[in-house]
Amino acid sequence: MVALTTSNQAWFDRALTVIPGGVDSPVRSFRSVGGTPYTVTRGEGAYVVDVEGRRYLDFVQSYGASILGHAHPAVVSALREGAALGTTFGAPTPGEVLLAEAIIERVTSAEQVRLVSSGTEAVMSAVRLARGHTSRSRILKFDGCYHGHSDALLVAGGSGVAQLGLPGSAGVTAGAIADTVVAPYNVVPTLDESYAAVLVEPVAANMNLVAPAPGFLEGLRAECDRVGALLIFDEVITGFRLALGGAEAYFGVTPDLWCFGKVIGGGLPVGAFASTRAIFASLAPNGPVYQAGTLSGNPLATAAGTTVLSLVGESDVAALSARVDAFADALAATIRDAGLFAVTPRVGPLLGLYLARDEAPAPTNFTEAKVLCDNGLYRPFFHAMLDQGVALAPGAYEIMFVSLAHGERELDQALEAAHHAAVVARRT
Ligand SMILES: Cc1ncc(COP(=O)(O)O)c(C=O)c1O
Repeated sequence: MVALTTSNQAWFDRALTVIPGGVDSPVRSFRSVGGTPYTVTRGEGAYVVDVEGRRYLDFVQSYGASILGHAHPAVVSALREGAALGTTFGAPTPGEVLLAEAIIERVTSAEQVRLVSSGTEAVMSAVRLARGHTSRSRILKFDGCYHGHSDALLVAGGSGVAQLGLPGSAGVTAGAIADTVVAPYNVVPTLDESYAAVLVEPVAANMNLVAPAPGFLEGLRAECDRVGALLIFDEVITGFRLALGGAEAYFGVTPDLWCFGKVIGGGLPVGAFASTRAIFASLAPNGPVYQAGTLSGNPLATAAGTTVLSLVGESDVAALSARVDAFADALAATIRDAGLFAVTPRVGPLLGLYLARDEAPAPTNFTEAKVLCDNGLYRPFFHAMLDQGVALAPGAYEIMFVSLAHGERELDQALEAAHHAAVVARRT
C-alpha cells in the first residue's frame, strides 16, 4: 500500500509519476510561474485548503466555474439528494429540462439548448452546427481568444496555450485548421460568402481581460448579416456572470448561437450551446448535423447548475460588479503606492490585472496584452501573493475570478497582500 503523504511536494511528485506534467489541465501547472502547485483537498466559499492544511483566499474559483464560491450548502444538498437517485441513465430526465428552461428564461433570444459536458464540446458542436446549417466551411476566430481544445479552434489561443508560449498545438493537422481564419480582436473583419460563422468571446477573458471596443460586437453582427454568416458568442466565461442574460443583455447584441459552460454546471462538468429553433432544425435527431454524449444532461450536473442559477439574481450580479469595480480601483492604487503600475480593466464583475513598470493603457488586442503578460512581473507577484495565502491563477493570461462569497474582508485581505507583492515584484 502507498503511504499517505501530506506535503504538496510529495503529492505533486506522485502526480508527476502517473499524470503527464502532474496536472489534468496545463493551466494548473506552475510552468509559467515556477514552483510546485498546491494540491487542494477542499474548498469553502472564497477559500481553498491544501493537503498541508494551508488556507488560501481563492481567485481561481475553478477558472470561473464557481460563482457562489466553493461548496455552497444548497449545491451540496442538491448533489446529495441527486446522487441518491442515481447519477446517469441514458434516458431523458426532468433535470435537463429544468436547466434548459433556466438558461432560456435568462438568455431571452435563445429558444433551445443542447447540453454537453464541457465548454470545449459546446463550442466544437456550435461550430459544427454553424457549418452544417450554412453549408459553408470557413470560420473566423480572434487572436488570443480561447475556445477550448478542439482541433479547428486550437490556433492563436489565449489561456494555457499563451502561457506556454505556443502558437497552437502539435498534433493539429494543417487540414484541421485550414478553414479557421484568425483576425485581431477589436477590428471588424471583412467577410465573404465562404464564412459559416464568426466566433468571438464577447469580452476576451483568456488574454487576461480585453474589453470589446465600442461598436466591435455591433460591427460583427452587421458583417455576419451582410454575408449570411452566423455569429457565435462563446460565453463560457461571460455567461450568467457578466449579466444573467449574458453578453446580449449587457451589450445589446444578439448572436445566432451561444456557447456556455462553467457557471451553468455549478462546479460539475457541463457545457451547453443555444440557438433558435430554425438553426436547431439542422441538429440531430431533427437534422443532419450529428452531435451526442453519454453523459450529456447528466442529472447531478444539471441539479448543481439549476441550483446555482436559482440562487443568482440580477441584484447579485449588480452587487458583485460594484464590489469588483471598487476593488479594481483599490488594487491599482495599492500597487501604484508600492511603486509598480497595474492596469485593472473590468467589465461587469470580470476583472483583469496586468502589471507594468510604467504607466500603460488597457490592452485592446492580444499583441498588446502579450507585452504586459510577458514582462516578467507576474511571476514574483504571484508567488508573493501565494506566500501570503492569496491564490491567483498560475499564469498571467487568466483573469481574477471574484465570487459572490468574496466579501469586504476577503477583498481587503487581497489588497494588503497585493501591496507587499508589488513591492517584491518591483525589486526583481
Ligand atoms: C471562453 C472559453 N471557451 C471555451 C472554454 C473551454 O471550456 P472547457 O475548459 O470547459 O472545455 C473555455 C475554458 O476556459 C473558455 O474560457
